[in-house]
Amino acid sequence: MRVGHLPHLVCPRCKGTLSLFSRQDEPSDEIQTGILQCTACKKEYPIIDHIPRFVPLSNYSNSFGFEWLTHAKTQYDSYTHTNISGERFFQETQWERDLRGQMLLEAGSGSGRFTEIAASTGATVVSFDMSTAVGANYASNGTRPNVLIIQADLFHLPLRENYFDKVFCIGVLQHTPDVEDAFFTLTGYVKPKGKLCIDIYRKYKGILHLFQTRYLIRPLVAGMSPEHLYQLCKKYINAMWQIASIIHKIPRIGSRINWILLIPDYRDRFPLSEEILREWAILDIFDILSPVYDSPQYRETVEKWFLRANLVDIQVKYGYNGIEGRGEKQERVFERSGGLGEEETPRSEFESESSA
Ligand SMILES: C[S@@+](CC[C@H](N)C(=O)[O-])C[C@H]1O[C@@H](n2cnc3c(N)ncnc32)[C@H](O)[C@@H]1O
Repeated sequence: MRVGHLPHLVCPRCKGTLSLFSRQDEPSDEIQTGILQCTACKKEYPIIDHIPRFVPLSNYSNSFGFEWLTHAKTQYDSYTHTNISGERFFQETQWERDLRGQMLLEAGSGSGRFTEIAASTGATVVSFDMSTAVGANYASNGTRPNVLIIQADLFHLPLRENYFDKVFCIGVLQHTPDVEDAFFTLTGYVKPKGKLCIDIYRKYKGILHLFQTRYLIRPLVAGMSPEHLYQLCKKYINAMWQIASIIHKIPRIGSRINWILLIPDYRDRFPLSEEILREWAILDIFDILSPVYDSPQYRETVEKWFLRANLVDIQVKYGYNGIEGRGEKQERVFERSGGLGEEETPRSEFESESSA
């Protein structure tokens, strides 16, 4: 981290200011190894490999750490030479491409493919993830002067509330232990008149739920180590790949059959080479089967959260990764009240959510 980025951080416990207590590297603007200390409660937080760490290195997100360190570049536009992540970011957020002078918060960065895009707007981007995936993000984006990467838990952030012009959270909420709480926690970091953009897996009702094979298979692989599960996923995709390309040719339903067979099939969706399509499939099937938490939601429920958070200009719709939601924070502080939304009748179309 850069010394100049220190004012963006506070103690996650008491929100006191942090100071650089000690460092074990050569003095420069970039701190590789050191200790941050809260000036109020004196709690200490290590900086390891350039990244301030506010959670134990090992936590419930371990599988994600393994996933993103193994596939550190797979979904980067700069690696695939496409605009897949860029298009998704700007379509979901609807934000301008030039955000110089603004503060952005990225919740749950994974390998950092969206950090790359957010940083390209010229904004200062504070990006956090609970897992060791932050190491992958740092390797790709950490030396950019407008990026601060931290390892932290969404529920206990070392950040000031009402601080960020824009907050985005892509592909993350469903993987937290309390999705609703995670949503409301994030809204707290948006400053008045600032914007929030989230997406979340969609929950299906009735028979469509049965087509989500992932939820049938998950109990069978729960408890496996990430390394073991990953090898299993890799073998499965490699064994099925040729068959999947034949199934894919079945008019209209080929791709869907592949998804039901747990073979992430992006052939018609993205202009990727055969080699990268397979790489994405391996990454994705692991991403689908490995998380400790996976709580999809109904669109109506998400809409109610946006309303209860007193956001305005709300748009909640089916989108890229299930449900997308955007809103702007009012001056008034929100109050949490009311119950969860009811179930809704799903669209007839079945779609699969994934890490892509
Ligand atoms: C499916 S990945 C999405 C990564 C990235 N946003 C993307 O779309 O490529 C979900 C990420 O959320 C992170 N995550 C889960 N719970 C978290 C929490 N409580 N605090 C911070 N990050 C969390 C995981 O570590 C993981 O990297």
